[in-house]
Amino acid sequence: MKKTLFFSFLLVVATLWVGCGSDSDDAKTTTTGTTTTQSTTEQPAQPAEETKQDEATTQAGDDLVAIGKKLFTDKTCATCHAPDKKLVGPSIQDIAKIYADKGASIVDFLKQKSKPIVDTDPGQVSVMKANLDGFVKDMKDDELKALEAYMMSVK
Ligand code: HEC
Repeated sequence: MKKTLFFSFLLVVATLWVGCGSDSDDAKTTTTGTTTTQSTTEQPAQPAEETKQDEATTQAGDDLVAIGKKLFTDKTCATCHAPDKKLVGPSIQDIAKIYADKGASIVDFLKQKSKPIVDTDPGQVSVMKANLDGFVKDMKDDELKALEAYMMSVK
């Protein structure tokens, strides 16, 4: 009788021991499990999605600006117009600012549909007009739009 009691006591202790042990183990794995899943899936996923959206919305504009930037060099505009300082002609920044302020169109100016508004000195105007009459009149609308997009992007 004594022996059986002792064994049942041992059994109870053993069960409690194992029970407690496995309980706390379970608790641990669940907590670490949740924290790992959160940090690996949710957090890095968000910034990646944002970048994708930004790229999608600005891609078309960026392409036009890149084409315009290349044309600006290829068509020799860059020899007279620097981004931020006056060369022969006004800086691109000055031109872009005045066109933005007045809501004017560089495409119209390049097609000689509108008069110069940045530098109206007749000597200066004739230098630029020589380009407009010379080769700019043969450029396609798409190219003029790209040049405008590039010039307006220079801040
Ligand atoms: C030989 C030098 C020279 C070259 C090359 C040249 N420009 Fe100009 N540009 C000038 C000068 C000088 C002015 C100032 C006179 C004026 O504003 O019309 C000017 C003015 C401008 C203006 C401002 C017009 C305004 O409203 O006053 C724009 C826009 C412009 N150029 C765009 C271009 C583009 C685009 C090209 C290339 C296709 C180009 N330029 C090539 C000399 C040049």
